[in-house]
Amino acid sequence: MTFLKEYSIMSSEYKSELHNIGLKYNCDKCTVKCFCCPVKKQCNKKTSYLYNYEKHMKKNSKINLLEIGVRDGASIKVWNEYFSKDSKIYGIDINPNCNKCSEIENTKIFIGDCNDILSVNNIKNLNLSFDCIIDDGSHHYDDITKSLHYYYPLLSFKGIYIIEDIASMNRISSKKYNDLKDFIKNNFKDYIINEYPETIVIEKI
Ligand SMILES: C[S@@+](CC[C@H](N)C(=O)[O-])C[C@H]1O[C@@H](n2cnc3c(N)ncnc32)[C@H](O)[C@@H]1O
Repeated sequence: MTFLKEYSIMSSEYKSELHNIGLKYNCDKCTVKCFCCPVKKQCNKKTSYLYNYEKHMKKNSKINLLEIGVRDGASIKVWNEYFSKDSKIYGIDINPNCNKCSEIENTKIFIGDCNDILSVNNIKNLNLSFDCIIDDGSHHYDDITKSLHYYYPLLSFKGIYIIEDIASMNRISSKKYNDLKDFIKNNFKDYIINEYPETIVIEKI
């Protein structure tokens, strides 16, 4: 099964250490169906988000990371292995079952809707700036923009804010994708948007 998954990924992606750690934990960030964002046509390839993210990440660096959307903790395990053991890894998920992921080393999971003021305050009260924030939550446009509003200001200088599965919100038309880019343009300054299939990586500069 793993062989089949790997086979469908471009060979250069084998060279990505982050991608290979993703395979180890069966994280779906390394084997995602490609919808060739922002074009709405579906293509039959698989794409590896982790291969693209690694262009913006440094192995063993000590970072503060926040991920919206934890599910079974697969990606939390990936971050935990890839970054230094002194890193602080936080997650938020609306599903109370995700609480068990707090058992993963160096990890704290908050339960609640990421855009509920209680969740926002839980994160703000950590008094941290984040080197990496990943939005892998509901993938609805309104949630994505609300989370940007609350969490983007917590990003450190040169930090990255990743928005995943753009195609889920974009499947009907590419208008939402352009709306999202306009939202970023109208609300933030000093950033670079890196566009990949299905994801964008916003770098604060
Ligand atoms: C795609 S899964 C996350 C997968 C995980 N990041 C990984 O890569 O292994 C999406 C998760 O987002 C959570 N979620 C959906 N809407 C949310 C919200 N408004 N606030 C917090 N979590 C939410 C769901 O409960 C689900 O566990």
